[in-house]
Amino acid sequence: MELTKRINRIQVSPTAVVISAAEQLKAKGVDVADFGPGEPDFPTPDHIKRAAIKAIEENRTKYTPTGGIMPLREAIVAWHARELGSNYTAKECAVNVGGKHSIFNVICVLIENGDEVILPAPYWVSYPDIVKYAGGTPVVVHTRQEEGFSAKAVDIARAITPRTKMVIINSPSNPTGGVVDAEEFHRILALCKKHHLWLMGDECYSHFVYHPHKPFSIASATDAKEHVIIIGSMSKTFAMTGWRVGYTLAPEPLIQAVVKIQSQSTSNPTSIAQYAALEAMRGRMDTVPVMLAEYAKRRKRIVEGLRAIPGVTCEWPGGAFYAFPNIAPHLEGHKALAKSCTELSQQLLEKAQVALVPGDAFGAPGYLRLSYATSLERIDEGLRRLNRFFARAEAAA
Ligand SMILES: Cc1ncc(COP(=O)(O)O)c(C=O)c1O
Repeated sequence: MELTKRINRIQVSPTAVVISAAEQLKAKGVDVADFGPGEPDFPTPDHIKRAAIKAIEENRTKYTPTGGIMPLREAIVAWHARELGSNYTAKECAVNVGGKHSIFNVICVLIENGDEVILPAPYWVSYPDIVKYAGGTPVVVHTRQEEGFSAKAVDIARAITPRTKMVIINSPSNPTGGVVDAEEFHRILALCKKHHLWLMGDECYSHFVYHPHKPFSIASATDAKEHVIIIGSMSKTFAMTGWRVGYTLAPEPLIQAVVKIQSQSTSNPTSIAQYAALEAMRGRMDTVPVMLAEYAKRRKRIVEGLRAIPGVTCEWPGGAFYAFPNIAPHLEGHKALAKSCTELSQQLLEKAQVALVPGDAFGAPGYLRLSYATSLERIDEGLRRLNRFFARAEAAA
């Protein structure tokens, strides 16, 4: 079949591939220790679910304004101001069908053929493909494990060319949990201002940060607005991945363009989900620290467990719910277990029934991503299997 060049430039999200391989095994009755999914294992809070049920009962089941109902746009900017210190109006906010859709829309309206977008690596899987789909060129800037995979302004500065249009900073990061501190973020903003670049801040994990980090948005900088685009999501903070609600905060003309593309594609995000999101924004947030405390326990267990495996090093993720161990020594020399981390992750699924995502997917060969959005019991089981796998492989080599 002849498909467009556009679609042939991109691939199916590698995380979706892993999740589907694990699901196939589970369907056959195999007990998989699943570190694949990047989604909270907690239910959506009751008060949010009740708001959606009420919306259905009140027949709020029709089209809404394309960019989202006005009360939700107002509630999002109020929430963002309260939680993260920004200063947006409802006209500077659009509600989208998840944060990924927000990113897709923004890139489609800002990136032309040949434009360059700087992505600190390890990067979230979807950024390069969305950029390529729009005709742009992803320009990868490497971060360092020993610096907690935190993006640095000096490295970004070196990658800027006359074609650079945007820098994307995802803090805390998926896949590394790396956090960019406020000072460094300000340096990156200064760089973007100097070179007239857009700075996109992907804040999907903003509220999952561990001591000593605090939730931070670059939109809190006094003179940020003209250069900054904020991407937010209900998915992680409120355990609402399936509801598909995200948002964009940006200067009004950009929001209008986002609404224009949305008007010719998805139209409004699901009406019922918008009412649920409205409750998330206005209601109590007591489930967030509860989830965070649980993630903190799991983080300790998994990082310590991974560090105990010979030939594996692992940083403490500053936020999010991913551990990102370096397994490069196991891919080197005559004792190598596999040629690549992708091959190793396939072996882990087949031989040890452990599902995880290879670092290759994130522009980081030699690493694996393990989501610890799963119970302590399953983490322990997964670690047992990993220990057994590496010990056996070591003995056989
Ligand atoms: C860094 C990052 N940005 C954006 C998203 C998109 O989330 P959603 O589309 O569910 O809002 C994800 C989801 O995994 C993510 O990890």
